[in-house]
Amino acid sequence: MKITVIGSGYVGLVTAACFSEVGLDVWCMDMDRAKIDALNAGKCPIYEPSLPELLERNASAGRLHFTTDLEVCLTDADVAFIAVGTPEGEDGSADVSYVCNAARSIGNLMKGDLVVVVKSTVPMGTCGKVEAILREELAARNADCRFDVVSNPEFLKEGHAVNDFMMPDRVIIGVENERARAVMSELYRPFMMTGDRILFMDRASSELTKYTANAMLATRISFMNDIANLCERVGASVDMVRRGIGMDQRIGPKFLYAGCGYGGSCFPKDVKALIATAARHGYDMQVLQAVEHVNAKQKTVLFEKISRHFEGRLKGRTIAVWGLAFKPGTDDMREAPSLVLIAALLEAGCTVRVFDPVAMERGQALLGDTVFFAPNMYAAAEGADALAVVTEWKEFRLPDWKKLRAGMKTPVLFDGRNVYLKETLRDAGFTGYRIG
Ligand SMILES: NC(=O)c1ccc[n+]([C@@H]2O[C@H](COP(=O)([O-])OP(=O)(O)OC[C@H]3O[C@@H](n4cnc5c(N)ncnc54)[C@H](O)[C@@H]3O)[C@@H](O)[C@H]2O)c1
Repeated sequence: MKITVIGSGYVGLVTAACFSEVGLDVWCMDMDRAKIDALNAGKCPIYEPSLPELLERNASAGRLHFTTDLEVCLTDADVAFIAVGTPEGEDGSADVSYVCNAARSIGNLMKGDLVVVVKSTVPMGTCGKVEAILREELAARNADCRFDVVSNPEFLKEGHAVNDFMMPDRVIIGVENERARAVMSELYRPFMMTGDRILFMDRASSELTKYTANAMLATRISFMNDIANLCERVGASVDMVRRGIGMDQRIGPKFLYAGCGYGGSCFPKDVKALIATAARHGYDMQVLQAVEHVNAKQKTVLFEKISRHFEGRLKGRTIAVWGLAFKPGTDDMREAPSLVLIAALLEAGCTVRVFDPVAMERGQALLGDTVFFAPNMYAAAEGADALAVVTEWKEFRLPDWKKLRAGMKTPVLFDGRNVYLKETLRDAGFTGYRIG
C-alpha cells in the first residue's frame, strides 16, 4: 500500500515515520521547501524523542520519501492523509483553509481511486466540506476517480508522540462506507497486535471526539488551577487535595496538576474552536468559556507572585526563567506560558535570562535579543534576583542547590509547576513560592 501524508509538522512527520516503520511505502509532502530540504538532508525539523532515528532508518530503507511535489506523491497512492495545521481564526474558530487547500490540490492531481483521511483537528462538518471540494475539482477536469473521505483525528502527545502512535490508547475513525472502513482497518492493524482498539463511528462524532478529549483535559487543568488558587487563600495544599481526589476511581489521578496554565498548539485553540462551533449552532458552552478564562488568568499568576514578592518594584531586577517550551519533551512554544511571563517581566523593566534544554532555537526566533539566552540552567540564574521555573523538564528536578544559590543575587524561587517541595526549597535556603 502506498500512502501520502500532506503536511510534515508534528503530526504529519510522526504519522509518516510510524506507517513507514511497519513497512508501508510512505510519501511525506510539505509546501515548506526548507523543511523538506532539511528532511532530505537527514535533519529532523522538530524535537521529538525517537523520531530522528525512525526517519533515518526508514528513509535509508527506501520506504520513506520527502518531497514538495504532490503529484508524485499521489501517483499510485491508495491513501492520502491531510495533516496540515488548523490554527485559530480571528473569531476563535478553527481556520480550515489549509485543509481545504490541501483537498483542492488532491482533487486537482489525483489519478486513481483514493481514500482521503483528515487527520488534522477539524470542526464538525469539515470532512463533508473536503468531500465537496474533491467532487468539484474532479468534475472540473472530468476525471472519473472514486474517493472516500475519512475522519481520523490524532491523539498523540508531543514528547511521547512516537510511542503514542505506535501504541495508541484508541484509534478513532469516522467512515461513511464499508470500503473505507476496510482500508482503515488494514492500515492500523499493525498497531493493534495487543488487541483491537479501533473505534469506528460516523464522521461528525469522530471530529467531535477529538475536540471533546482536549476540552475535557483542559477542563481538568483549569479546574485544579481554580482549586489551587483557593487553596492559597484558605491555607490548604493542592498537592494533598489532588492526591485525595485522585484516589477516587471515578476521578483518577491524571491531569490534576496545578500550574501556571496550559499552552501548546492544541488545548488553547481547540477549546476556543469548540466554543466557536457551538456558538455557530446557537449553543453557549459555558463550562469551556470558564476553562478558557481561568487559563488566561493562570498564565499571569507567576508574574503576580513575583511582583508581590518585590512589592511592585520590578524595574531593573534580573529574573531567570527555566523552561520555554509549553511542556517538557518538546521544543514547541506555541501559546507557552513562558511567553506570557517573559512579556510581563520585560514590560515591567526586568532583565530576563532564560534557559531551556531544547527550545532555545525556537525561543530565539520568537524573542530575539529581548532576553539573554544562557548556555545552561545555572548560567541563566547567574546574578538573578529570582528564578521562575515554567517548564518541568526532568533536569530541573534535582538541581545543585548550593551552586544555584551561590550564583544568584538573592535565593528566591517561583515554582510554576510544583516541581519542588516546600521543605526542599526551605532546606536549600530559598524563599519559595509554589502554585496552590
Ligand atoms: N501538535 C500536536 O501535538 C497535535 C496533536 C494532535 C492533533 N494535532 C492537529 O494536527 C494538525 C497538524 O498539527 P501540527 O502540530 O502537526 O502542525 P504543524 O504546524 O507542525 O505542521 C503543519 C504543516 O503543514 C504544512 N502545510 C500547510 N498547508 C499545506 C499544504 N496545502 N500542502 C502541504 N503542506 C502544507 C505546513 O507547512 C506545516 O509544515 C492540526 O490540526 C493540529 O490541531 C496536533
